[in-house]
Amino acid sequence: MRHGSDASLNIIDQTNVASRRGSCFISRMRATLKTIGNFCALALIANFMTACSSIPKASFGTTKAGEAIEIYTLQNKNGLIAKVTTYGATLVELHVPDKNGQLADVVNGFDDVSGYEGDGNQYFGCTTGRVCNRIAKGKFTVDGTEYTLAINNDPNHLHGGNDKALSKQVWKASKSCCGQSVTFTLTSPDGEEGYPGNLKMKVTYTLTDANELRIDYEATTDQATPVNLTNHAYFNLGGAGSGTVLDHLLTLNADKYTPTDDTLIPTGKIEAVAGTALDFRQPHKIGARIPDSAAAKTEDCKTATLGYDHNFVVNGTAGELRPAAKLKEPKSGRVLEIFTDQPAIQLYSGNFLKSQAGKNGKTYPFRGAVCLETQHFPDSVNHANFPSTILQPGQTYRTTTIHKFSVE
Ligand code: BGC
Repeated sequence: MRHGSDASLNIIDQTNVASRRGSCFISRMRATLKTIGNFCALALIANFMTACSSIPKASFGTTKAGEAIEIYTLQNKNGLIAKVTTYGATLVELHVPDKNGQLADVVNGFDDVSGYEGDGNQYFGCTTGRVCNRIAKGKFTVDGTEYTLAINNDPNHLHGGNDKALSKQVWKASKSCCGQSVTFTLTSPDGEEGYPGNLKMKVTYTLTDANELRIDYEATTDQATPVNLTNHAYFNLGGAGSGTVLDHLLTLNADKYTPTDDTLIPTGKIEAVAGTALDFRQPHKIGARIPDSAAAKTEDCKTATLGYDHNFVVNGTAGELRPAAKLKEPKSGRVLEIFTDQPAIQLYSGNFLKSQAGKNGKTYPFRGAVCLETQHFPDSVNHANFPSTILQPGQTYRTTTIHKFSVE
């Protein structure tokens, strides 16, 4: 600033006194404005910092490999709280009120990163991919090249593979300067978990004052590659670890679903839910028709009687935000509505939960939570009649899912 004023004085020295006075005035004004400008900038920065510092960051422990893991707390004006961690860009806690205003944490999770690295973690709350759900026999072909992925759910590939699946990676976090928002970024290098292309990803969690947890995803690549990202939150609206979800009332905005073989790979058909245990177009208790859900699969499906694990085609136009699901827990009155621009949603009724120990000494029993994973259809990369999951260089993958909480 001083240097600038000196420079203007050098110029006015060459002129007459009157104009010098005028110029002096102008230069003083400039200096004053600069000071005000700098002051404003400082005030703005201070303001931003206040906004940023209203998203507290804490340690969430250290991975077995020695990486420090962070956890961020988002809170809206109504007192709802969401906690997200850099490990797997994971939703760890989500506290929402019941009809009496009583908060409960409604998602499965662990107290620190060691739980997420342990055997009890079944993708709790994580960002799942590069391709969520299954790829048949871990094989696909893009642009004439066949790629082979890990078989981690015999005989198929599930949720992006092994150690370098997105759910097991440490993401970089940045807090928003306004609003309650944290963005996680990660670049998955070409060939990681067998997938082609350097994939740059961004996942943003926002807790709005309309009681919504919004998740925005973005990705770009330098080679054609399949991408299908979702969040794998396990919900129990009575409170995570409070029993089963069999009494939760579920509504799905889906006339159709994709039947599977006995390894949960779609046959390629798209069939009507009408007349099956998958018809959730009107609210039904999750537990009411579980034994019948087997009929909606092939006869020898090994997992069918365990509960729901089905991909539903969301009515309406993929690419546009529209209602996909509504979940209500009658006792607490808590309601979750899910809106998405994705083509489909997986209903998974916690069929492999095994009473593992979770947060705050709670355990998560068989069917103790439900996942509603917005997604492209499973194994899309091997079905030309399914909406494509291939991201091309130059394109940007973008998708949004909103979880809106209320009471009834
Ligand atoms: C799948 C289930 C799988 C579970 C693992 C779900 O998305 O549909 O089949 O067992 O994830 O937690």
